[in-house]
Amino acid sequence: MTELIFEKDVVGANSFQLPPFDGAGDDSTENIPGHLLRASLPDIPSVSEIELIRHFTALSYQAYGVDNGFYPLGSCTMKYNPKINEWAARLPGLTQIHPYQDPKTVQGALQLLYDMANMLSEITGMDHFTLQPAAGAHGEMTGVMMIKAYHNKRGDNKRTRMMVPDSAHGTNPATANMVGYEVMEIKSNDRGLVDLNDLKAKMSDEVAGLMLTNPNTLGLFEEDIREIAAIVHEGGGLLYYDGANLNAIMGICRPGDMGFDVVHLNLHKTFSAPHGGGGPGSGPVGVKDFLAEYLPRPVIIKEGDHYDFDYDRPGSIGRVKNFYGNFGVIVKAYTYIMALGHEGIRDACQQAVLNANYLRHHLQDDYHIPFNRLCKHEFVMSARQQMETSHVSTLDIAKRLMDHGYHPPTVYFPLIVKEAMMIEPAETESRERLDGFIAALELIAREAQEDPQKLRDAPHTTVIGRVDEVKAARSPVVKWEG
Ligand SMILES: Cc1ncc(COP(=O)(O)O)c(C=O)c1O
Repeated sequence: MTELIFEKDVVGANSFQLPPFDGAGDDSTENIPGHLLRASLPDIPSVSEIELIRHFTALSYQAYGVDNGFYPLGSCTMKYNPKINEWAARLPGLTQIHPYQDPKTVQGALQLLYDMANMLSEITGMDHFTLQPAAGAHGEMTGVMMIKAYHNKRGDNKRTRMMVPDSAHGTNPATANMVGYEVMEIKSNDRGLVDLNDLKAKMSDEVAGLMLTNPNTLGLFEEDIREIAAIVHEGGGLLYYDGANLNAIMGICRPGDMGFDVVHLNLHKTFSAPHGGGGPGSGPVGVKDFLAEYLPRPVIIKEGDHYDFDYDRPGSIGRVKNFYGNFGVIVKAYTYIMALGHEGIRDACQQAVLNANYLRHHLQDDYHIPFNRLCKHEFVMSARQQMETSHVSTLDIAKRLMDHGYHPPTVYFPLIVKEAMMIEPAETESRERLDGFIAALELIAREAQEDPQKLRDAPHTTVIGRVDEVKAARSPVVKWEG
């Protein structure tokens, strides 16, 4: 186990140089009342500069990210983040401005936000976008609040329920609940798609809408989407698009054309802004014209050649984020879209789908794939076979993959597949890299038969073996006790 920096303490060593003190007088404590003065020096480690550098460099080697390996974490779209994004986000003209500046002095930044909203509208088939929300889940909350504001304004207060498919990402029911809706689960049929009969049976004048991602979390395109939209709309509800899976369709088709009324996107997935470790992210929300009045304020407007903020929006659900969103993340995603262009956006999508189908095809002999047909950007396989024959679980396989240098896929999600492994390679992986991953999973499938204990004890090569994840979450120890 790696030592903590506190354990490297050597009396007298130091790695800092303070500038000469140029304050008034010699005694830097003269203005501090005696009872507030410390009796002893702070208990912080004394470490030389080189040991400090070595310590943090060693720690950085233990971190795993897309820059050092394959990261097929389904639903998360862990694609490579081109370095030009970082260059753009660091341009002094963009970093050395402040949200409290007069809009006249930040016209370039406002133009960027305005153009970004228009590009996202074009890509998704929506009419307006807000860039304020800071993540996908935050976008969901913003979008569902607008749906609620719409029904309320019409005096349609009976609609107290939100429909969510049983394959949905956990943030969907959580969001509906936070906004005050009772969640109604819609069943999937035996093809892994929304069960239309269940949807029809549950749609009523008490339902505010349906939250759906397309392709769904099984990586399957909801082929009946037009009929789904018609059922929801005819019942007076609205259709919400969880755009976390947009990488599977961008440049090919648009949620706005499928009948969705509200859309959120994850710039930190589809549009390559780096994520992981909790952010920062960006979850813009797009709406059709009839919902524009509810958008969070301020809205960026263009009058002639001048860009400005419009705060005069009486129907708005209000501000959902301080200032105008995570500006740096938006700049990175803007750069990505501009660098790819319209053909590049489509190519990236097609490559992502090809990569997922390549993996699905090569893994189908060794692993059970419950919905084994053409998938979009991701697919779900299961360790059901391995569990039945050798008591080897999805968790064991995921841990063993780490010994081979791969980040495990998303495990035990979606909930409707037992022993699920959700694999999303994204478009940026080469065929050689995919072949390496296939070879590792083939080997693991053999090991499950020949030496299952090896999998149950994995990982063998990482700094930390299996942690008690429940204990780590419930009773985290985040304080150094010397
Ligand atoms: C399908 C789906 N919806 C919503 C979200 C939530 O997005 P975020 O993590 O940015 O809040 C995710 C994130 O993994 C997702 O995969």
